[in-house]
Amino acid sequence: EKGGYPHFMLKEIFEQPDCINDCMRGRINADGDKVVLSAVIDHKERLLKARRFVIVACGTSWHAGLIGKQLIESFCRIPVEVEYASEFRYRDPVIHEDDVVIAISQSGETADTLAAIELAKEKGAFIYGICNAVGSSIPRITDTGSYIHVGPEIGVASTKAFTGQVTVLTMLALTLAKEKGSMTDEKYLEVIRELTVIPAKIKKILISNPKIAELSRIFTYAHNFLYLGRGYSFPVALEGALKLKEISYIHAEGYPAAEMKHGPIALIDAEMPVVVVATHNAMYEKIMSNIQEIKARKGKVIALVTEGDTVISKLADDCIELPETLECLEPLIATIPLQLLAYHVAICKGKNVDQPRNLAKSVTVE
Ligand code: M6R
Repeated sequence: EKGGYPHFMLKEIFEQPDCINDCMRGRINADGDKVVLSAVIDHKERLLKARRFVIVACGTSWHAGLIGKQLIESFCRIPVEVEYASEFRYRDPVIHEDDVVIAISQSGETADTLAAIELAKEKGAFIYGICNAVGSSIPRITDTGSYIHVGPEIGVASTKAFTGQVTVLTMLALTLAKEKGSMTDEKYLEVIRELTVIPAKIKKILISNPKIAELSRIFTYAHNFLYLGRGYSFPVALEGALKLKEISYIHAEGYPAAEMKHGPIALIDAEMPVVVVATHNAMYEKIMSNIQEIKARKGKVIALVTEGDTVISKLADDCIELPETLECLEPLIATIPLQLLAYHVAICKGKNVDQPRNLAKSVTVE
């Protein structure tokens, strides 16, 4: 049942190219120039009249929500807030009848997310679900939604559900932007074309699995890890840190890279590995100076760089190369090596990666 892999988590990491194709199937046309998420088209008037979107989710699904916020705001120019479902439900949040709430949940059973939806419904908001488990509780109480279609996720650490959620959020933002006319045709086509080649690019990253396994061996000593990224890569840093802490039990924090000097830099010494998403994008120069600051304090830098990078690869202690893509799609690429890094560090430490201590696959109690 693990398809020849030693653990479900590794199987699910390797399934991601196929999962993303399954997620896009029937939604992006054969010519690769149109994306249609039927739930968006069916409810386009309701969605387009929204003054704002509020995304509610927990854990990894909340990280996908942070990426969704950037995609929707950038493509559709609609303000988006992202809330932990558990905070939202107890905060007496301001919700209007014309708000749209997007609930993201792999299992469709998370108690806090369910309660957040019920509260938003009472206040008259329109609820859009993004779930994986077909027929689960959340899709049954939402007004509409899109399944991510990545197949059952067994490993407690969420991997393929995350990339599926981000893929659906990208298609949602594209479909809505087209209806709204908020994106140029050129940009719209560019994003769709690039989205369709993401599975092939993930396959390329998966080839570096043995190298990441080797690299992971030297980090089992660490008690703390820092993960840094900016823009679209900030949620990737959060997700990388969550993966590591939940399966290897190493304390890890994700930060927006520029926040480092507002506190976390005090932690950096020779014992502190820092994972930095440092791909070629608008923030490249800024990230480079963050890396110099870490090196000046003897921190160990593991950098995710764009293929062919010659500058950061000289500064960093270790580099993992990623195929080039659009900045807005980078989370789909950059998350993969971080999943593998967490997996291998946990394996080197002899941990049960599929069923980490104290964690359940669906958190159906608060
Ligand atoms: O099923 P859900 O997406 O609602 O679950 C939310 C979180 O419990 C979940 O993502 C959790 O954080 C994972 N174990 C992370 O890998």
